[in-house]
Amino acid sequence: MGDAATGIAAAASDSSSSPTRPASDSSGFAVSALRQALLAWYAACGRDLPWRRSRDPYAVWISEIMLQQTQVKTVIPYYERWLQQFPTVEVLAAADQQTVLKAWEGLGYYARARNLHRTAQAIVQRHGGQFPQQFDQAMALPGIGRTTAGGILSAAFNQPTPILDGNVKRVLARLLALEVPPSQALDRLWQISETLLDPQQPRDFNQALMDLGATLCTRHNPACLLCPWREHCRAYSLNLQSEIPMTESRGPLPHKQIGVAVIWNEQRQILIDRRRQEGLLGGLWEFPGGKIEPNETVTDCIRREIMEELGIEIEVGERLIVVEHAYTHFRVTLNVHHCRHLSGEPQPIECDEVKWVTLDEIEQYPFPKANVVIIEALKDSAASVESPVG
Ligand code: ADE
Repeated sequence: MGDAATGIAAAASDSSSSPTRPASDSSGFAVSALRQALLAWYAACGRDLPWRRSRDPYAVWISEIMLQQTQVKTVIPYYERWLQQFPTVEVLAAADQQTVLKAWEGLGYYARARNLHRTAQAIVQRHGGQFPQQFDQAMALPGIGRTTAGGILSAAFNQPTPILDGNVKRVLARLLALEVPPSQALDRLWQISETLLDPQQPRDFNQALMDLGATLCTRHNPACLLCPWREHCRAYSLNLQSEIPMTESRGPLPHKQIGVAVIWNEQRQILIDRRRQEGLLGGLWEFPGGKIEPNETVTDCIRREIMEELGIEIEVGERLIVVEHAYTHFRVTLNVHHCRHLSGEPQPIECDEVKWVTLDEIEQYPFPKANVVIIEALKDSAASVESPVG
């Protein structure tokens, strides 16, 4: 398999931009033909996406961060709202973190929002408000790795910086008929992405490559008959497009059972806490609770967790809802109960902040998706229940 990658690299350094000699090599890849076919397809079939109408590095950067691990159709409304709310890097840098997290609520991977905020401040303080054009400087910013830097610099400044996101890995793995999962051949895939990248039109080439992966060279049922690279694609010629890319062998996701408390006080307020900055959901608000230990009941777990985390005594009442949620690396079941505050002043022992809020106020705070479901259940039950506990 190694010869395929080196074959393309040899072709590119040999004669890729020569108008007289076709850029191809002994392994049969024709770099110029691949570029031309992809760009012609993109001109005819490329998607009209909002961030492609902008050359503003700020807007391009926001789009690339939102598009990490998130589909285009999910991102579009967030992207448009974001630019209304934070039209410039200066506005974003000056916003408080809660406002930024609230605008991100529901997109997941909240470290992305925290990093956007920190990076906006770094751009204002260290780069005079201009997104850096140098690759190494872009890579040094929080939340910007090699493929994101490549995506931003090519889209905003038409720089010849390659990309290798999940879709592009799949396209290139098929082109080569890669016999190992992409994660085991990253150097080779980067090299190919770099070699194929059209130095005359890097912006369009990278966008086209992403579109090819998103619209035709899909994980399931790829539309090979419509593909501009069909005649070059080794997976297609071997009829292996459904087998490639090879997947990593993974076991089932670990599953955690969590006890969650909706703690009411005499003023019909609810206690919420803000998670510490580090971790998956850092900086977001949540209903307090924690992992159910082996042989522990949900009720005992909730009472124990609330004493450990907040230092208060509660009475655990009726079950409100059970929420199932899957994160990338684990699943959770949230067993949510109404509770009544009995004694003690809540302390932020294992969180950054605690607050009593009314059901009307609660929507101002950013919550993880699974907790938003709890808020909806509370609103539904509020109308019918006079006093939830006791
Ligand atoms: N995924 C990452 N960047 C993208 C872009 N610019 N267009 C579409 N999907 C993307």
